[in-house]
Amino acid sequence: MRRPIAAGNWKMNGLKKHKDEILDIDNASRKANCDVILCVPSTIISEISKITKNIFMGGQNCHTEKNGAFTGDISAEMLKDAGASHVIVGHSERRVNYGETNNNIRTKTQIALENDLKAIVCIGETLSEREDGTTLDVIKKQLIESLPTEIIGENIIVAYEPIWAIGTGLTPTIHQITEVHDFIRVELVQSFGNDTGQSINILYGGSMNAKNVKEISAILNVDGGLVGGASLKADSFVPIINALGKS
Ligand code: 13P
Repeated sequence: MRRPIAAGNWKMNGLKKHKDEILDIDNASRKANCDVILCVPSTIISEISKITKNIFMGGQNCHTEKNGAFTGDISAEMLKDAGASHVIVGHSERRVNYGETNNNIRTKTQIALENDLKAIVCIGETLSEREDGTTLDVIKKQLIESLPTEIIGENIIVAYEPIWAIGTGLTPTIHQITEVHDFIRVELVQSFGNDTGQSINILYGGSMNAKNVKEISAILNVDGGLVGGASLKADSFVPIINALGKS
């Protein structure tokens, strides 16, 4: 049985002064029937992880290497040291803006796991890939190439985030989300066997909000959400957490 996950990705937003917002989310998560993960900027992980009790802290990226001369970068070990338990890898904003490849993402996933972080591995098609009818091919390639060959299911979370749905207010139809999530499940089972493949949470991400969460989370292979804009405020994130907990 997969426990649902409500994950927030704060992207490049969040200062120490926003801790009250986070404490509101933390308080509301006490009775939630799902795991709540907040991926805040790495600059505040340490401080926030000390004052929250009910939510997991996540980073938003890590380097492929353990340490070294990589000015401005952050390692998986540093995130763990700061208090993170999770890290997002392969978000489309990093794939697109920094040219991250599936190969980079597999290495990042591997090093995250080695440092006792759970990896939230993001995949998703562009609008032109969707329109060309190649979505499932793209998803399959990203999935196979971004995940290490040997994994423990509980340490991996897959997030399906159609790039065209991120921050746009657009979402795929229920049929489209169902098709992709079912496909990911079948691929995971084929690659890693039934037990591991069934144990991996598959999150939906892309303009998830309090209005659409109920319908999306009712889909069989949607095991939670990775929420951007709507996770920044307790007022908009808590209803999503509550709805995901009921799914
Ligand atoms: P939005 O919820 O703002 O569309 O962002 C989704 C996302 O990119 C989460 O990682």
